[in-house]
Amino acid sequence: MRLDAYLSRAGLASRREARDSIRAGRVRVDGVVCREPATRIEGQTVTLEDARVERPGETRDWLVHKPVGLACSRDAREAPLVYDLLEPALRNRPVQIAGRLDRATSGLLVLTTDGDFVHRLTHPSRKLPKRYRVGYRGELPADAVARCAEGILLEGEDRPTRPAELSLDGPGQATLVLREGRTHQVRRMFRALGAFVETLHRDRIGDLELPPDLGPGALRPLAPEERALLLSESSL
Ligand code: URA
Repeated sequence: MRLDAYLSRAGLASRREARDSIRAGRVRVDGVVCREPATRIEGQTVTLEDARVERPGETRDWLVHKPVGLACSRDAREAPLVYDLLEPALRNRPVQIAGRLDRATSGLLVLTTDGDFVHRLTHPSRKLPKRYRVGYRGELPADAVARCAEGILLEGEDRPTRPAELSLDGPGQATLVLREGRTHQVRRMFRALGAFVETLHRDRIGDLELPPDLGPGALRPLAPEERALLLSESSL
């Protein structure tokens, strides 16, 4: 395993933070400073700022049906939190959310102790598609589908959104597939098109759909084949 992946799988850092620590000379491999994130680790002793980094153990991943009302945050002032859905013993472990949802958004969410998995699901270069079911108020313009496909310049930003697929499903109902994750992106794209999002639900990430038997507020371990669907290249 690469050194940066080793650190992030041990739950210590995101892949980027791990790389920064390595380049800054804070990481040693068998006692020697190693500044190369791609170094292969196969049994050597790794230390970060002189503390031994345990070999990444069993990672744990969960599939969550996030209900409306919970915040994707660690900040107790924002309670109730998505982390409250985990059993109490796990709440203080380094569990991360791979691709957050707004408090008012429901749907498919992945939690994991594997920082490298988060990196692979959220890195912009991967362009992993995420599908949103949207209930909106107002009229979308006749060229809404084309504008989403071309990219929309959102307020306060200097580059347009990546091409996104909008389909109109019926009065006030639409589906939007995004290949990036800017803050409140669906809501802001609809505002830019002159409509207002009233309900927002994510039901698919990559090739993985929210299982119909997982109700709002429920979670369960992610099965290995579901992990594989999230990492599959077929939908990219
Ligand atoms: N876009 C939004 O506006 N909110 C979400 O939660 C996800 C995507």
